[in-house]
Amino acid sequence: MIIKADEAGIERAAVALGQGDLVGLPTETVYGLAADGFNEEAIAQVFAAKGRPHFDPLIYHLADETALRSLASEVSEPGEKLIRAFWPGALTFVLPKNKDVPDLATSGLPSVAVRCPQHPVARALLEAFGGPVVAPSANRFGRISPTDAQSVEQELGEQISIILDGGDCRLGIESTIIDLQGEGARILRLGAVTREAIEEVIGPVTLVNQNETDGKVNAPGMLKSHYAPRTPLQLIDQGSWLDLDLSEAALLLFEKGEGEPRCPYRILSESGNDLEAAANLFRSLRSLDSLNVSTIYAERPPHSGLGLAILDRLTRASS
Ligand code: TXA
Ligand code: MG
Repeated sequence: MIIKADEAGIERAAVALGQGDLVGLPTETVYGLAADGFNEEAIAQVFAAKGRPHFDPLIYHLADETALRSLASEVSEPGEKLIRAFWPGALTFVLPKNKDVPDLATSGLPSVAVRCPQHPVARALLEAFGGPVVAPSANRFGRISPTDAQSVEQELGEQISIILDGGDCRLGIESTIIDLQGEGARILRLGAVTREAIEEVIGPVTLVNQNETDGKVNAPGMLKSHYAPRTPLQLIDQGSWLDLDLSEAALLLFEKGEGEPRCPYRILSESGNDLEAAANLFRSLRSLDSLNVSTIYAERPPHSGLGLAILDRLTRASS
């Protein structure tokens, strides 16, 4: 059930978490499916509700940096710098895990993924609950991430006792995941914080080859097919839809170009702004997917800034 994220609603959600129930949680990136991070039964329910394979670990969400010590055994120097620069926010760290963290949540890995969200409702709930929660995106496994409460209800309404309505997600694309085990830093998932912004703080970082993602590499969840609409999706170059037969198609345009498509379409950002485009990505995909066309053609975004994270999602959606 969707409930208002006022004080009473947040209190109710905190009680539900304490009882081992699942809560739909707004964050600044996408909505999460939250459960008590130290309750193994609740964690098992998260996997079951999403239909998520157990080899794909969950992200922990914390109210603040102090809670980090209960999850991670150490934080590297680049990690400390990134915390100061980006927390609370859309950057997730993979760190050596504390032995108390349930292996179920981390899929048996020696590491744990953590982030401190910025959304005021997420922060208020974490504070009211008083401990870390696990929260993968609140979609069925492999599907489009939800960026509003109604989409969470569509995806998982039957499995979630309470969905807190925090409105539309401001960023609309998941957090960037960076592996900080050992020396240096490696980006495992492109996301709402750009590589450029990270490199301004800690210098050069590597980007783990996004094509090597067959489930065996460092980010088990970075599966090739993900974020997928039911309608087949095909990537095209910007403007090349002009040459296509669009009779049973829909278009996802990156920006406003020349001409008016003769089929249903959405524009991610009229002015081609990548922040706005990211915010509109999943809701546009979701709405085109509901039209029952035979193909969605999606324009490739520019290969810089958030365009790269958008391209990553669209590529997986097309797999
Ligand atoms: O923005 C976000 O990160 C959203 C919101 C709700 O916070 N959450 C999210 O969670 O995107 P999820 O579960 O959909 O994606 C988490 C990714 C998965 O690909 C998973 O494999 C990876 O994080 N992951 C989790 N723990 C990991 C670990 N220890 N090592 C490497 N990758 C890990
Ligand atoms: Mg996800």
